[in-house]
Amino acid sequence: MEKFVINGGTPLKGEVEVSGAKNAALAIIPAAILSQDVCTIENLPCSISDIGYMMKILRQIGAQIRVINKNTIEIDSRNVNSYVISHDMTKHLRASYYFIGALLGRFSRAKVSMPGGCYLGPRPIDQHIKGFELLGATVSVDDNAIVDARADKLIGSPIYLDMVSVGATVNIMLAAVKASGLTVIENAAKEPHIVDLANFLNSMGADVRGAGTDVIKIRGVEQLHGCTYSIIPDQIEAGTFMVAAAATKGDVLIKNVIPKHLESISKKLIECGATVEEFDDAVRVSLNKRPDKCNIKTMPHPGFPTDMQSQMAVLLAIADGTSIISESIWSNRFKYTEQLNRMGANIKADGQLAVVQGVERLKGAPVKADDLRAGAAMIIAGLCASGTTEIEDIYHIDRGYEDVVEKFSGIGAQIKRVYCPDPDCLTNAG
Ligand code: UD1
Repeated sequence: MEKFVINGGTPLKGEVEVSGAKNAALAIIPAAILSQDVCTIENLPCSISDIGYMMKILRQIGAQIRVINKNTIEIDSRNVNSYVISHDMTKHLRASYYFIGALLGRFSRAKVSMPGGCYLGPRPIDQHIKGFELLGATVSVDDNAIVDARADKLIGSPIYLDMVSVGATVNIMLAAVKASGLTVIENAAKEPHIVDLANFLNSMGADVRGAGTDVIKIRGVEQLHGCTYSIIPDQIEAGTFMVAAAATKGDVLIKNVIPKHLESISKKLIECGATVEEFDDAVRVSLNKRPDKCNIKTMPHPGFPTDMQSQMAVLLAIADGTSIISESIWSNRFKYTEQLNRMGANIKADGQLAVVQGVERLKGAPVKADDLRAGAAMIIAGLCASGTTEIEDIYHIDRGYEDVVEKFSGIGAQIKRVYCPDPDCLTNAG
């Protein structure tokens, strides 16, 4: 077991470089098997564990992976020979279900165990299944939660999503690129990683138009070819550093970002009194006083991202006044507030609403990461708190933040990764 030990109270200062986008990479890696060729993926956050699990799955179905350098891999999917992915492979992460769309696109058949991932409330896949069925597949889910999707031939179709779903939009795009005829996804998700996936597919010879709007048109092509593609910067990692800079009353230049993707976050930070300067591919965030209160409502892109909700709550926890956070995407995304309250925050969460009464200061305490973004919030809380904070269950954080200790240390944070013996092992020993 490992934990982070943070000595808080130091304003973050300096420059930090953001990695490639996890959620774009998680869609692009399975997409590579649609090509039956070699794809080179650059700016990939290879060392986060979610990417490691996706590479394991690729190998299990017969792809060959060559690591070119720390952030570049080559995926050779010519010998992919299986459409079956078992539970021990899918249990680690949500995005493993993108292999349903990708394998359907490649073999017209996919047998994939239901995915794991962060628990944020129920995470149904009815819209994914509806999309596959409209493309002509028969889909069943057995008692062991194995999704079996098969089609004689996938045929393009209009598909209206009942709600905006990132996952369903990705999965339908993957299944539709080689279907015959035109697929039109209406009420599609517009997140930056949807656009990145479309650009990757088009680099392989697909015909995908309209990504980034709520109508995506996909004209099926017979074959795709290999390509070299560089993944966009991670919007949420960038946002995490932006909030950390403000919460510690620091001044940080965050590099390798697309400022347009960060607009909803920048606007809220400015509302809280921070200064946000935009450059071509960087943003500088500083704050030299107690943050002002502000209200937040999470929304699909271009609204305020739910994946930034917990980090922003830390800033509001030390703001002057009372803020309201309304979570409109997930039904159970306030569990972390119990951990923040252990550090002296005053947050009352009920259902999808939280009332944050700002306090002068957080105090270091032993806490845990309930999920990936909750873990990022604990780091920010530890950095702006007085004293020492110890964060357990950091494997959640390692799923999505590359070189997190090195990057925060580089801007002045006092953060260490410490090995700690599993208390159960100690009790059982001897
Ligand atoms: C993705 C992100 C996750 C982020 C979320 C919302 C990845 C790997 N994960 O998750 O970090 O928090 O977008 O921005 O990119 N829904 C249904 N039926 C479906 C699909 C979704 O009811 O078939 C509901 C969900 O329960 C949720 C909402 O739609 O309430 C949005 O979910 P969705 O956009 O699909 O999230 P994910 O793709 O799982």
